[in-house]
Amino acid sequence: MKVLVVGGGGREHAICWKLAQSPKVTELYCAPGNGGIAQVATCVPIKATDVDGMGKWAKENAMDFVMVAPDDPLALGMVDALEQAGIPAFGPRANAAIIEASKAFSKELMKKYHIPTAQYETFTDLDKALAYIRAQGAPIVVKADGLALGKGVVVASTVEEAEQAVREMMEDKKFGESGSTVVIEECMVGPEVTVLAFCDGEHLVPMLSSQDHKRAYDGNQGPNTGGMGAFCPSPKYTPEIAERCMKEIFLPTVAALKAEGRPFKGVIYFGLMLTKDGPRVVEYNARFGDPETQPILSMLDTDLLDIFQACVDGTLDQVDIKWKSGAACCLVLASGGYPVKYQSGYPISGLAEAEALGATVFHAGTKAEDGAVLTAGGRVLGVTATGGTLEEAIAAAYAAAKPISFQDMHFRTDIGKV
Ligand code: AMP
Ligand code: GLY
Repeated sequence: MKVLVVGGGGREHAICWKLAQSPKVTELYCAPGNGGIAQVATCVPIKATDVDGMGKWAKENAMDFVMVAPDDPLALGMVDALEQAGIPAFGPRANAAIIEASKAFSKELMKKYHIPTAQYETFTDLDKALAYIRAQGAPIVVKADGLALGKGVVVASTVEEAEQAVREMMEDKKFGESGSTVVIEECMVGPEVTVLAFCDGEHLVPMLSSQDHKRAYDGNQGPNTGGMGAFCPSPKYTPEIAERCMKEIFLPTVAALKAEGRPFKGVIYFGLMLTKDGPRVVEYNARFGDPETQPILSMLDTDLLDIFQACVDGTLDQVDIKWKSGAACCLVLASGGYPVKYQSGYPISGLAEAEALGATVFHAGTKAEDGAVLTAGGRVLGVTATGGTLEEAIAAAYAAAKPISFQDMHFRTDIGKV
């Protein structure tokens, strides 16, 4: 089969790496891809958000299956467009991808179907939002409604901080139109765990639980990033909690979307907080997480294309999804200065040495040029290793990262430990 993956980060490298192992995949393409993806797939220079261009290329080149990985093309209706062109596509349609694209929508859905989450109110009026904050007091959480590259959330510890966040979103339009509507919610406390789940519109199969590290520096300090590392499974996600999540959160979410006429096919990302009152939803995403996907797919023992096809066909209940025992850890090597300001274009050395140590190096922001691999983004590489235990997986990822270097390389030294 000819398969196209849409996207070009570490997550897409892991997806391509796993799909390339499927005997059914005879030709693998990735648009736009990156320097590492080019080792396992043919990169196609089409922007991930170019819905028309992607559909046209997929049709002209007779793709049998397309996997859309990032949030923006999903929200823009790329899966809908591919389906209309007669090409089977993995990922939610726009009307289901809205669980990520609109926080106001997802909060409303959870309220209507009694899915546990933080108490909240939605505002389009600045004065009403400010009055609500003053009435509720701090700590309190302010969120821009739309997609804001993961940066539209402020966990404010004082009323002043929350007021400033609302003003920046609604008055100064810091996130453009994404901030015209804000969601203000109760601050929840507890460990955070991510569970990704395959869905076929009706059935849902959770993957291994995971945790990521959003802050840039050790000890969870510094600005929020797309993620500086991740590991799986999470020791905090016990079988009892898993059972509760399935019953109180996962199955009700799939049923709610179906009941609303928005059947979800693809991967639902459940961002969970394990509060003292039980697990609650922090956020939904409509896609695989990055970097959680890198360790999770490293543990998958089933043909990924079979799973994707079952999600599209509505036969997920007939697939036996198997996982390796042990654990996996992904350590992100980033450009110095990320996520604020950084330089790109530096040569990377030591990649072959890292892989010789048994790790898989997924490329997030690289490009191949004249036989060299250059940095081309904030998050550059995700060094991913498995082990019999989480400690072994962490040690293996750090050991494999040792030979790798590029100018101003930055990474956290405490992935998996805090
Ligand atoms: P989100 O983009 O919704 O995942 O939010 C980003 C981060 O903000 C989450 O990973 C949490 O650490 C934090 N956060 C979001 N909502 C809440 C909440 N209601 N209470 C406490 N922390 C939150
Ligand atoms: N790692 C967080 C995300 O993918 O949204």
